[in-house]
Amino acid sequence: MAERSSFVVVANRLPVDEVIVDGERQWRPSPGGLVTALHPVLAEQRGTWIGWAGGAGEAPEPFELEGIRIHPVPLSAEELERYYEGQSNATIWPLYHDAVETPVYKRRWREAYRIVNQRFAQAAADVAAEGATVWVQDYQLQLVPAMLREMRPDLRIGFFLHIPFPPIELFMQMPFRAEILRGLLGADLVGFQQRLAAQNFVRLARHLLGLRYEGQSIQVDGRKVKAGAFPISIDTADMERMAADPGVQARAKQIRAELGDPETVILGVDRLDYTKGIELRLKAFRELLADGKLAVPEAVMVQVATPSRERVEHYQTLRVKVEREVGRINGEFGRVGMPAVHYLHQSYSRTELAALYLAADVMMVTPLRDGMNLVAKEYVACRASGGGALVLSEFAGAATELKQAFLCNPHDPDGVKDALLRAVGAEPSELKRRMRVMQRHLRTHDVAEWARTFLNELGVTEREPAPEA
Ligand code: ADP
Ligand code: G6P
Repeated sequence: MAERSSFVVVANRLPVDEVIVDGERQWRPSPGGLVTALHPVLAEQRGTWIGWAGGAGEAPEPFELEGIRIHPVPLSAEELERYYEGQSNATIWPLYHDAVETPVYKRRWREAYRIVNQRFAQAAADVAAEGATVWVQDYQLQLVPAMLREMRPDLRIGFFLHIPFPPIELFMQMPFRAEILRGLLGADLVGFQQRLAAQNFVRLARHLLGLRYEGQSIQVDGRKVKAGAFPISIDTADMERMAADPGVQARAKQIRAELGDPETVILGVDRLDYTKGIELRLKAFRELLADGKLAVPEAVMVQVATPSRERVEHYQTLRVKVEREVGRINGEFGRVGMPAVHYLHQSYSRTELAALYLAADVMMVTPLRDGMNLVAKEYVACRASGGGALVLSEFAGAATELKQAFLCNPHDPDGVKDALLRAVGAEPSELKRRMRVMQRHLRTHDVAEWARTFLNELGVTEREPAPEA
């Protein structure tokens, strides 16, 4: 039997990508919000990460990569459709994001969600050492804490929700709502991005299950379950280092040159997701061009829209709408060799993203709802030279911390236009002042601090020795 770990992360995705080198399968660490967040903690503790390796069918054998034990969990093609695309991304994702798209409820999706959550819980029960700490991540695995506690009451279980937790009225739509809530209550500590989300959760426990709570602590079957806010962040120092790299800086200059050296480069970087407000941002840009407040080629927009969840209908519809809007803007305001919007439906390396951030005068982050939004934080961390403006939706978790951004209500098109214009027209000294305050915040509130705070609250002492190899 494989050695057991005293620190285990359970997440839907593994922090690795499959690459084929000389016809042979190899694994590389993959970039991304959640991965970036947990990698330092795991590497430090030589823990195990349990997750899905992507693709359908048999899972690869467990292996080790950069000091982390990787334990893949299989998903069949049907589970992929029902648990991942269905229950996780067509039911829970839209419901938890203020139902900005209508959640779809299907019994067979729920059943697959239970089965897959049980599989993840079993894998954690198998690899966790006696008294180990298990940290379960995100909305795809909300049943895991209770399932795991049932099998392994000796474990210390944490759960962190990366996306918003909805108010009671919305949560109550969910057909198996009590089961989800009980699933989460299997943890000792349930973490959220925002204080309000933690409050929604404790109130819901009373409303739905009649549980008593004091402050943020809920009484469940003679146990205490703590809820709290732990806003996630980025590896700030790493981002700053990348932005200071001469190669990245040269690439940023090159990008601006390739765009025709415009006065103002406006940038958006998001997964192609309907929560991100990509359409409304494009519309704001179009209206400002139509009003004559902005003009091509002095101002151009670059929108990176990373392919995401492409088989889910909501995402297919969004892609059509976004691409239609891009076509419309370029048709009306572009010139030969000079599009108004450069639309990139592609993934990029982290250095290329850093170069894009450096090249952008204005970063537009306008989600209708977002748990945190790491892109906003990455942009700020990249702007050590002090320039650049962040236009940020009030409905992104990041807005609670990045108060010096040009905040806007994404539901109000005039408000978005106004914030964008203010950002474009702001004095360099004002932009520098705003950036400096936000950068200071991110230097002390980085991802390592996030993980440390959560784990301390969970009762894992800061200087606990690394688990035995
Ligand atoms: P979400 O987790 O909803 O996608 P976040 O903004 O919190 O939104 O995190 C997105 C992460 O993915 C960021 O770290 C960002 O740098 C990365 N990312 C976004 N688009 C791309 C892309 N096209 N290529 C590579 N990484 C990307
Ligand atoms: C968000 C979620 C993560 C998810 C990521 C990418 O950040 O909170 O749990 O992994 O989006 O989405 P995907 O469906 O590709 O895993």
